Amino acid sequence: MQAEQENIWGKLVSHSPEHKPEHKVVGFGVSDAKKSVQPSGLDKLRIEGGHALEGEIPISGAKNAALKIMCASLLTSEPLTLTNMPVTLNDIKTLAHLLKHIGVSIMARHDKTAVLHAHTIETPVAPYDLVRKMRGSILVLGPLLARHGFAEVSLPGGCAIGARPVDFHIKGLEAMGAEILIEDGYIKAKTNGGLKGATYTFPKVSHTGTENLMMAATLAQGTTLLKNAAREPEVVNLAECLRSMGAQITGEGTDTIIIEGVTSLGGATHAIMPDRIETGTWMIASALTGGTLRLVNTNLGYLTSLIAPLEKAGLTIETEGKDIIVSRNPGRLVGTDIMTDPYPGFPTDLQAQFLTMLTLCEGAGMVTETIFENRFMHVPELCRMGADITVQGNSAIVRGVAKLKGAEVMATDLRASASLVLAALVAEGTTTINRIYHLDRGYEDIVGKLGNCGAHIERV
Ligand code: EPZ
Repeated sequence: MQAEQENIWGKLVSHSPEHKPEHKVVGFGVSDAKKSVQPSGLDKLRIEGGHALEGEIPISGAKNAALKIMCASLLTSEPLTLTNMPVTLNDIKTLAHLLKHIGVSIMARHDKTAVLHAHTIETPVAPYDLVRKMRGSILVLGPLLARHGFAEVSLPGGCAIGARPVDFHIKGLEAMGAEILIEDGYIKAKTNGGLKGATYTFPKVSHTGTENLMMAATLAQGTTLLKNAAREPEVVNLAECLRSMGAQITGEGTDTIIIEGVTSLGGATHAIMPDRIETGTWMIASALTGGTLRLVNTNLGYLTSLIAPLEKAGLTIETEGKDIIVSRNPGRLVGTDIMTDPYPGFPTDLQAQFLTMLTLCEGAGMVTETIFENRFMHVPELCRMGADITVQGNSAIVRGVAKLKGAEVMATDLRASASLVLAALVAEGTTTINRIYHLDRGYEDIVGKLGNCGAHIERV
């Protein structure tokens, strides 16, 4: 009981000088966010390959749902209680830090529950240091503008997987009547008497763009239509949370979302959906290593685009209630082609992991990446382990080899890191993966979860 009352983000979200980024807010004037966020550690993972995974892996709450839903707490002065939270992920802690900076009081417990209470907005600013560390911080923009009428959010800039502009977020909010200036690397936004409902058509499907505008529209005057909207399950999970807070939303999960603005939202209790990308990562791990894995408390319905290519490759997939049971068929895996696409297409966040599986399949497979322009950075690292991959434009041709060999490799982004873990689990000998702080952003307790299923894995 004592432990349950403890705020496990206590130190992280305290207002001690070493944790609170400095800033000053002067309306549309200059913001100054100095560097004060601690760097992540440079831990390595050492994995001895060749051990089949056998056992159960509990699936965590989805990072990419939790981040947005935490931002929804800014829309109400009442507490928002979230269950199934992936409380140990670094991205989640970074956002908790930012929300605390804005004025949200936060309690996170070991039972994976977090309570976020934005009684008042003290500082409607997302400083560079926190946005740079975690691009999802852009998701405070819509809620802050809607509730507070003013926000300054650092431009995220490019990242390892591509340029990733946020112009749709900005244009959508402008369509809703916001005045926005880009100055000193900041998006400086204000409203004149609140946001107004509008129709906005996304030029290209944007996952967080849809979520930012959907949150902003809940408190706008009138009706907002988001067209060519993202259909991801995380968007649906956010809409469900907003609705339990009193928002009027229909059409989530389709490409047109309709939001009737209301004057205020209230508190609610909401469960974060299971992480479909973590689930898919371990399904691919089972295909690679053999053995039988039970993925506990998840939902195969979120992964329909993965089922056919994995079954074709040679994986048997079954469900039992909320669990998925996967096991590899006898014989060698068979290569197949995939192309990433917005949901319900094949997720870009599983591209690196699937490509890793193809390195050991019989025959060749082609992977085409249509979402991000630079998402093949795992390829040179996999080649260092003996893979045969040729990248041409936005496609990679993967010719199956008989085995991968352990090597020292470098993690470059979250999903690329996961793909190296998968390669290491099946490679001959020992692999050392450097810079695994990327993994800590999006996979909870990777050593514990895989170690419990027979992987020889340690953090050094
Ligand atoms: C979300 O990023 C996820 N992040 C990503 O997960 C995921 O890879 C991506 O969606 C695609 O599914 C979170 O949910 C926090 P987009 P997001 O806006 O929303 C272009 C992971 O590993 N675009 O759907 O930022 C953009 O450059 C991460 O967990 C614009 O041009 O992606 C890209 O080409 C990585 N202008 C495409 O649209 C904009 O204003 C789709 O990006 C916005 C996007």
